[in-house]
Amino acid sequence: MHPISTSNGRRYEARPDESLLDAAMRHGVILDYSCRTGRCGTCKGRVIAGDTISTHDELGLSAAERRQGYILTCVRQACGPVELEVDDLGDIVLPEVKTLPCRIQTLERLSQDVVRVVLRLPPTSGLDALPGQYIDVIGAEGLRRSYSIANAPRADKQIELHIREVPDGVMSHYWFQRAKVNDLLRLHGPLGTFFLRDQAGKDLVLLATGTGIAPVKAILEGLVRLADEVQPRSITIYWGGRHRDDLYWQAPDFPRLRFVPVLSRADDAWHGARGHVQNVLLGDKPDLPSTLVYACGSDAMIHSAQSQLRAAGLPERQFHSDAFVCSAAT
Ligand SMILES: Cc1cc2nc3c(=O)[nH]c(=O)nc-3n(C[C@H](O)[C@H](O)[C@H](O)COP(=O)(O)OP(=O)(O)OC[C@H]3O[C@@H](n4cnc5c(N)ncnc54)[C@H](O)[C@@H]3O)c2cc1C
Ligand code: FES
Repeated sequence: MHPISTSNGRRYEARPDESLLDAAMRHGVILDYSCRTGRCGTCKGRVIAGDTISTHDELGLSAAERRQGYILTCVRQACGPVELEVDDLGDIVLPEVKTLPCRIQTLERLSQDVVRVVLRLPPTSGLDALPGQYIDVIGAEGLRRSYSIANAPRADKQIELHIREVPDGVMSHYWFQRAKVNDLLRLHGPLGTFFLRDQAGKDLVLLATGTGIAPVKAILEGLVRLADEVQPRSITIYWGGRHRDDLYWQAPDFPRLRFVPVLSRADDAWHGARGHVQNVLLGDKPDLPSTLVYACGSDAMIHSAQSQLRAAGLPERQFHSDAFVCSAAT
C-alpha cells in the first residue's frame, strides 16, 4: 500500500495495482471524474511529490498541463508515497455502484440517429442514482459502453437512455440493427460526478449538444423535486444540434427556466439561435461570477466552452462537464 495525501488534507492508501481515483473512492474521498479512460480530463490533479505511472495514454491532458505536472487520476497508479494537488467533493456520499441484470422495456426512434431505450430492472432490484450520473451498459460478450441516465429516479425504477448512432460503432450496431424489446443486458453504475451541487441562488446554465441533453433532462427532473431554498435563481438550457431534426426533445414548463435551442446548420426557415451553444451563451452576457455551468455532450463543445468561459471570468470551480468521449476500453 502507498500513502497518498492531498492538498486539502485528505489521506488514503492506494494499492500498487489500482488507480489513484479508485483508491480515493474506496476510502470515501470523492474526486471529480467522468470517463475513467483518460480521455475527458475531468479527474485531473497535479503531482506535488512522489512517483506515479500511467496505465493508459492521458489523452485528456494538453502538452502544457503535462509539463506542469498534471496527471489523470483515473489512469495513474502510485509507485510510492504521493502528494497530490486535487480537489475533492467534500462530504458528498455517492450512491452504491452495482452490477444488475436488466431488460429492454421499450425502444423508440427519436430522430434519424438517436434512439430512446428504456431499461427495466428485476422487481427486487433498484438503482439509486443522482440525476446527471451515467451507467455502463454491458451487452453480449462483455461489450461495455457508457450512457447517461436521462431521467431522475422513478417509482417504477426504469432507466431511460438516449443513444446516438456512432458510424461503424460496435454497440451502435447492436442498438440500431439488432436490439429488441425484452433483450437481456447488464448495467453497472451509477457512475460519474456530473450532478448538481452548490446551485442555490445561482444562475444555472445547462449546455448540451446532441444526446448530451439526456443528463440535462434528468437534472431538470431532479430540480423539480428540490425545496425552494435550494433552487437556482434562474435556469437556462442551451441545446445544440446541426439541423432541426436533431432537436428531439422539448423542455417542460418550469419556473425560471429558459430553453434555447441552437442550430449550427439551420435552413432559412429557422428563426431560433444559430451557431454553437457556448457562443450563444456568451452572447447573452451572463453574470459569470454568479453562474454555474454544467456542460454535456461533445468533447469539442466542452473544451471550447470551458476555455472561453474561463477567459471571460467564470470561476474555475463553477464549470462541470461530462464529455461523451468514446467509451471503448483501450
Ligand atoms: C461518461 C459518458 C457518458 C456517455 N453518455 C452517452 C449518452 O448518454 N448517449 C450517447 O449517445 N453516448 C454517450 N456516450 C458516448 C458513448 O459511450 C459512445 O459514443 C459509445 O462508446 C459508442 O460506442 P460504439 O460501440 O457504438 O462505438 P465504438 O465501436 O466504441 O467506436 C466506433 C468508432 O467511433 C469512435 N467513437 C466512439 N464513440 C465516440 C464518440 N462519443 N465521439 C466520437 N467518436 C466516437 C471510436 O473512436 C471508433 O473509431 C457517453 C460516453 C461517456 C464516456
Ligand atoms: S480522464 Fe479521468 S475521468 Fe475522464
